[in-house]
Amino acid sequence: MSKPLSPIDTAKFVAAKRACDYVKSGMRLGLGTGSTAAWLVRCLGEMVREDGLKITGVPTSTRTAEMARQAGIDVVSLDEAKWLDLTIDGADEFDGELNLIKGGGGALLQEKIVATASDQMIVIADKTKQVETLGAFPLPIEVVPFGWQTTKALVEETLSSLDVLGDSSTIRMNGESPFVTDEGNFILDLHLGRIGNARQFAMVINQIPGVVENGLFIDICDIVIIGNGDGRVEVKDINEGTTEESVVDFLETDNVFSDLAD
Ligand code: 5RP
Repeated sequence: MSKPLSPIDTAKFVAAKRACDYVKSGMRLGLGTGSTAAWLVRCLGEMVREDGLKITGVPTSTRTAEMARQAGIDVVSLDEAKWLDLTIDGADEFDGELNLIKGGGGALLQEKIVATASDQMIVIADKTKQVETLGAFPLPIEVVPFGWQTTKALVEETLSSLDVLGDSSTIRMNGESPFVTDEGNFILDLHLGRIGNARQFAMVINQIPGVVENGLFIDICDIVIIGNGDGRVEVKDINEGTTEESVVDFLETDNVFSDLAD
């Protein structure tokens, strides 16, 4: 008998499960990266295998691509799909306007390209990701390896003129070496504490040569689905201005997936 899911895995699972209600046969779907998005891939895989759901997935990382293929989902590149009906992804933080910080898993560049090429973006998250103001989570920015230390210094200098609390950054590491993204770049994590004007911040930081993209997703997300450990989910729709609550039955599926939980 498998052990039950932890409350945090249940929260991620029920958010992912509720997001599946938005997926219809024939859709071209952006598949996010991270532990919450992994639950989505598992749920969609089950729908493909057991219910005959027909979807084409565009993964936002090599990790997700591998998972999706293993789950039985047809995987194509963004250029093959051209445009997507929907992208479903996790987030590190979201605020009341559904602006996001993403990139904790290092996939922000592909995630932003894919979400922007979609009619709709849904974020799935547990309650811990909800914030009043973005910035407590270190903001990831993707930088080219050439001259990264100079780029880092320029970024830190720029921070002093922006409405943020902190002005330090760290290069993300993978053991002894810098972490390398799927696009061959590095990640700088910016310790800002609070981002007063995220829209302005996103525009200014992208002007620095060497910065490829930042992890602020402004006006990209349409819906956030927040899962709780007891199966309750909240659906916040920024375009409709609505918040709806429902309960996802997770006890039976809980056992199907529990061996896969972290
Ligand atoms: C990866 C991301 C993830 O969506 C974000 O880090 C959330 O991950 P998790 O669901 O594991 O908390 O942006 O680049």
